[in-house]
Amino acid sequence: METKLQQADGPAVALAAELLKGGGIVAIPTETVYGIAASALDGAAVKKIFEAKGRPQDNPLIVHIDRLEMLEGLVGCVPERAKKLAEAFWPGPLTMILPRGPRVAAEVCAGLDTVAVRMPSHPVARAVITACGLPLAAPSANLSGSPSPTTAHYVMEDMRGRLPLILDGGECQVGVESTVVSLAGPQAMLLRPGYITQEQLQEVLREKVLLSGAILEKLKEGETARSPGMKYKHYAPKAEVTIVKGGFQAYCRYVQQHAEPGTFCLCFAGESGALPVPSVEYGAAQNGADQAKHLFTALRQLDERGAKRVFARCPAATGVALAVYNRLLRAAAFRVVEA
Ligand code: TXA
Ligand code: MG
Repeated sequence: METKLQQADGPAVALAAELLKGGGIVAIPTETVYGIAASALDGAAVKKIFEAKGRPQDNPLIVHIDRLEMLEGLVGCVPERAKKLAEAFWPGPLTMILPRGPRVAAEVCAGLDTVAVRMPSHPVARAVITACGLPLAAPSANLSGSPSPTTAHYVMEDMRGRLPLILDGGECQVGVESTVVSLAGPQAMLLRPGYITQEQLQEVLREKVLLSGAILEKLKEGETARSPGMKYKHYAPKAEVTIVKGGFQAYCRYVQQHAEPGTFCLCFAGESGALPVPSVEYGAAQNGADQAKHLFTALRQLDERGAKRVFARCPAATGVALAVYNRLLRAAAFRVVEA
């Protein structure tokens, strides 16, 4: 199959809408990362997403909408908490897990009785949903297991020959996937950290939002994941990544002592010059949003440059940086050392 890459102008959006209405799949930009979209009402179309990504069938997808009325039939009910969060954060990088409704294709939910929904803010994502009039199931547009793509170029790298059309909407502004919060249980629970933080959710809900254990810890053998995506090694570059905790001086010493041929550093902005091996920077030390925006590109650059082993600077585990730490932990397969 030939894969076309087109600037996301009016005609390209119209072409995407035609493909989607016909049961096809299309890669589209969102404010978080690029996604592979299909009609969430069409099980056969959704299956094509799983095939294109090589994604395990038991990992459910997020349904993207452009207005609240689209929730009708997609979700079983809209709890009070969901109304408050939608009011505060939609359109934007927040996904809510709600009881599933009758219209959504079974393939989207991977057998669960809940469904993930989000209203993106990216103008191209919104234009495509509006043009086809369909709720769109869309996971990140990477091959399963590799870092989520934040540019159309990286989508092409993973998806060439696997889907007919990629809409190019430039670089994604957030850079990590949406915050996922479950509102299906008695208490709100953060399943995946993102740009919208636990603190922000708590402020709006005026109650405690629990943190899923899977955010910072590897699932134990036999344990079931609340968010199935958390159980897979994710976001991983080809290089072996180790997170090095401690201040910059201690980090430099650690790198000096452990560097071998093929070792690279994944460090904060402005630190490269002081390091004894080649390095890739991923945002300012004290700025979680900046780190989020650059992390996945940095991981892909390490592969492009042939890194064999990577020592990564450790982000904070609070605010937006919690999302960065969560993704980096998976890229590192939970290898963390104290310098
Ligand atoms: O920012 C994003 O959310 C991007 C863009 C394209 O919108 N999409 C994205 O999709 O990251 P994906 O498929 O890569 O991640 C969806 C996550 C997975 O961890 C999945 O397990 C979880 O959401 N999820 C989906 N439906 C769920 C459900 N019903 N219950 C619990 N977790 C669910
Ligand atoms: Mg993904």
